[in-house]
Amino acid sequence: MTISLTTVIVLSLGVVTIATPEVCDKYCSPGQSCWPSFEEEVDLYTAMNGHLVTAYTADYAEYVLMPNTRVMKLPFVLVFPKTVDEVITAVNFANKYNIRMTIRSSGHDYIGRSTADGSLQINLMNMTDIKFNMSSSRSPDGEVTVESGNSWLRVYNETSKMGRVIVGGSAHTVSMGGYTLGGGHSPIGRKFGLAIDNLLEVKLVIANGSVVIANENGTTVFDADTGHPYHTSNNDLFWALRGGGGSTYGIVVSFTFRLHKDSKMVVLSCSTPVYDANQNDIGRPFLESLGNVLPNLAPEWGGYLMFSNTQMQNSTSGTMNIFLNHFGEWGSPSFNTIQPFLSNCNAKNVSSFLEYESTVYDPLYYRQYIFNTLVQPDGLTPQFYDFMYSLIGDPRLTTDIGCTGAMIGGNMKNTPAPNTSMNPNMRTGLLSLSCGIAWSSALEDRKWELLGQEFSTKLLKYGKGVYYNEPSAYLPDWKTQYWGGNYHRLLAIKDTWDPYNVFTCYHCVGSDEARLPRPTGATSNQTGNGHFEFHPPVIAVG
Ligand SMILES: Cc1cc2nc3c(=O)[nH]c(=O)nc-3n(C[C@H](O)[C@H](O)[C@H](O)COP(=O)(O)OP(=O)(O)OC[C@H]3O[C@@H](n4cnc5c(N)ncnc54)[C@H](O)[C@@H]3O)c2cc1C
Ligand SMILES: *[C@@H]1O[C@H](CO)[C@@H](O)[C@H](O)[C@H]1NC(C)=O
Ligand SMILES: *[C@@H]1O[C@H](CO)[C@@H](O)[C@H](O)[C@H]1NC(C)=O
Ligand SMILES: *[C@@H]1O[C@H](CO)[C@@H](O)[C@H](O)[C@H]1NC(C)=O
Ligand SMILES: *[C@@H]1O[C@H](CO)[C@@H](O)[C@H](O)[C@H]1NC(C)=O
Ligand SMILES: *[C@@H]1O[C@H](CO)[C@@H](O)[C@H](O)[C@H]1NC(C)=O
Ligand SMILES: *[C@@H]1O[C@H](CO)[C@@H](O)[C@H](O)[C@H]1NC(C)=O
Ligand SMILES: *[C@@H]1O[C@H](CO)[C@@H](O)[C@H](O)[C@H]1NC(C)=O
Ligand SMILES: *[C@@H]1O[C@H](CO)[C@@H](O)[C@H](O)[C@H]1NC(C)=O
Ligand SMILES: *[C@@H]1O[C@H](CO)[C@@H](O)[C@H](O)[C@H]1NC(C)=O
Repeated sequence: MTISLTTVIVLSLGVVTIATPEVCDKYCSPGQSCWPSFEEEVDLYTAMNGHLVTAYTADYAEYVLMPNTRVMKLPFVLVFPKTVDEVITAVNFANKYNIRMTIRSSGHDYIGRSTADGSLQINLMNMTDIKFNMSSSRSPDGEVTVESGNSWLRVYNETSKMGRVIVGGSAHTVSMGGYTLGGGHSPIGRKFGLAIDNLLEVKLVIANGSVVIANENGTTVFDADTGHPYHTSNNDLFWALRGGGGSTYGIVVSFTFRLHKDSKMVVLSCSTPVYDANQNDIGRPFLESLGNVLPNLAPEWGGYLMFSNTQMQNSTSGTMNIFLNHFGEWGSPSFNTIQPFLSNCNAKNVSSFLEYESTVYDPLYYRQYIFNTLVQPDGLTPQFYDFMYSLIGDPRLTTDIGCTGAMIGGNMKNTPAPNTSMNPNMRTGLLSLSCGIAWSSALEDRKWELLGQEFSTKLLKYGKGVYYNEPSAYLPDWKTQYWGGNYHRLLAIKDTWDPYNVFTCYHCVGSDEARLPRPTGATSNQTGNGHFEFHPPVIAVG
């Protein structure tokens, strides 16, 4: 992971030979005259305690790869902070030279919001602290503070050792960062609410390099020079962080979540051939019978409805799969709300949430275009089932398409919609339905992206709004689709905390705005409109 000074020299020479110096635009790009000099890059390497990778380091390729390979980009410098001070160092460096920053936890964002060409990428994978507080006054079953680079599986494992569960994603390799800031649904989310409903506090580094702690009771800014805290009871920032999306208000270094007591669970795997031996469609009645129990299912139930064309095109062996999980024991009143659908399922008793999660499989890499809608209780119409069949059976699809409907609603309703910036349709809905076309060759990108766009628009008719974390890259009215009526308030809060768009990404709050003119150039004490000042990097020693 270390780079030698020689590689840094090569890096700088590379820039000089390939680049034409130009005037700095909104962000400074590699090769422009505003780009840091060789000595200044070495300063960053030193200040980051060597936690830095560039295009000339052997492991660069490994770190720029995105799980969705379709959205891979080439950041210029990647830093891997281990401490909050190192995050601040990186932010101050990017500010000083007006370099675009990107923030990455797991890199799972489907439309690549965590990467950009020529950016300074802050990769949080090495910030993995986990701290429990089992005598918390604000959460009877305890709380945990987790740094953003943790995978959910690691957090589930540690939480399980305390006899507790935490609301997190189904997939193991996803991290807290973007997942939580976008809302976060979970196999146990119908029971305990969204991830943001269980969020007690957030610690972040904001655009000017200050550390901020935000919770429902207010906001505390720590002075960058003295560390002196300034507290206000204004909790707008916390509201915005609960659903407004990643890459927008700052770099979240840690999240504090409420914990819940663990429980025995029952896991169901329900499947049917799509066609029987006489080519009768038995898949649709199967889906409809799940649809009939869904609106009245107890919140203890969660799970996923999954089907794909690889399953359907094979008329003899095609199957549809539904995975359901019950938080609580077999035979309880909440358990019995699954009747009569239970007869379609194989059942298994498991002793804990971790035991259930340990059986979930994550794909490592994929090339994919996804699209989503939030299906509401009145959405399971005959036309909806027709549409799903037409999508999966579209004759133009000579590649894979699959849909996963994550079960939402339930106790997500218990947090009043105005308390968070999350799309309210997530709380009232039945399914966050995401479909994806997958292929392998980059040469086919355009073809399948266009078809994905077409499907994306059609799917919107069957739901209300779109889940920010399961987005289609083509979404003309994204502000309304993601946040309903909350967009303007989110934007006003963005203006307060990041007036120069130091943080930005594709279809994020404020990403299409003409912002306050940013101070440019490398001079360190230039000021903006009076409340923004560049500060020299904090050199972390250790
Ligand atoms: C296999 C798989 C399973 C999934 N399962 C679920 C699920 O069960 N429930 C669910 O709700 N969603 C799920 N998702 C969607 C998931 O929430 C999004 O992909 C989300 O973007 C992942 O967050 P990340 O931080 O891991 O990803 P990244 O790509 O690293 O980040 C996503 C966005 O957040 C920003 N960001 C990341 N970390 C921070 C931070 N610390 N501070 C500020 N900004 C940050 C990034 O810049 C980017 O804009 C799944 C996705 C995949 C691929
Ligand atoms: C992450 O931390 C590990 C363990 O300290 C270290 O070996 C590794 O080099 C770090 N990774 C990067 C990319 O800095
Ligand atoms: C745990 O939380 C309580 C109250 O919420 C607090 O007083 C205490 O200091 C915390 N303990 C630790 C170790 O942080
Ligand atoms: C907010 O303040 C109230 C009253 O002091 C307290 O009970 C609650 O735990 C605080 N919430 C958080 C998240 O700190
Ligand atoms: C949980 O952590 C322990 C180490 O504390 C490890 O041995 C075990 O394999 C982990 N389990 C899972 C499911 O990751
Ligand atoms: C489809 O079914 C046939 C006959 O059972 C089998 O040979 C074939 O492998 C199946 N194809 C797929 C893609 O499942
Ligand atoms: C699960 O356990 C209960 C007893 O708690 C038992 O009645 C039931 O049959 C078990 N189910 C399965 C599928 O093993
Ligand atoms: C919603 O916000 C109100 C007002 O701040 C607060 O009193 C209430 O406890 C919050 N509800 C939940 C479930 O967080
Ligand atoms: C920066 O500040 C120093 C002293 O405070 C001053 O001498 C210098 O001219 C300033 N530079 C710019 C570009 O404002
Ligand atoms: C950084 O921004 C915050 C929020 O606007 C402000 O309170 C703080 O004073 C700023 N700090 C510096 C060093 O500019």
